[in-house]
Amino acid sequence: MFRLLSGGLIALLLTACSSGQQSENQDQVDQWYSQGDVVATAAQSQLLTKVKTALETGGPDYTIPFCHTNAGPIMDSLSQVFKCTIERISDRNRNPDQHPKSEEEAALMLAYVNRQVVGDTVLSNSGAPVFYRPIVIGLETCLKCHGQPGTDIAESTMGKLRELYPQDKATGYQMHDVRGLWKVTFPEDYE
Ligand code: HEC
Repeated sequence: MFRLLSGGLIALLLTACSSGQQSENQDQVDQWYSQGDVVATAAQSQLLTKVKTALETGGPDYTIPFCHTNAGPIMDSLSQVFKCTIERISDRNRNPDQHPKSEEEAALMLAYVNRQVVGDTVLSNSGAPVFYRPIVIGLETCLKCHGQPGTDIAESTMGKLRELYPQDKATGYQMHDVRGLWKVTFPEDYE
């Protein structure tokens, strides 16, 4: 299902509509892709900047509690600025709330992990349009908190993770693995 609705194929689906509607719908879809791009890019860069500063301040053992306290509020304030809901989800989530919220979303997540889907996706079949973008382990730094316990992740860091995220599933990653998805939900009347 998501395959049909992702990328250029949306255009194909929409050509079935009457011509007037077609261009209107296509404009709308293009708008969700480009706005999703703006929002996800801004969110990624904000979060990365804050995490880097925290890492420079006190290393991973300081940054984990920092993320525990601040990741949510950072997403919330960006959501307000962009008038949409910005989240991160993962099939192997660290934060217990950040899991896929439907079967469709879980399937999409898995398709990204298995590289059956790459690039951005917009799903608009259940009311509000949702934009997804894969989050890849792109920096060695990510492994300090998401890599192999004992080698990439220091024992003291594991201690912090066990304390703050007792149900953590987000270790054991390697470079270039798909770690999760940006999820940007637009309001139904988004303009
Ligand atoms: C200092 C440790 C640390 C580093 C470095 C780090 N993360 Fe995380 N990551 C966390 C913590 C803690 C959370 C949970 C934050 C929360 O409670 O929302 C998290 C959550 C996430 C999530 C959200 C999904 C989930 O599992 O809850 C993604 C995606 C993610 N990290 C990707 C990355 C990527 C990509 C990098 C490298 C650019 C990275 N992280 C670097 C500690 C880290």
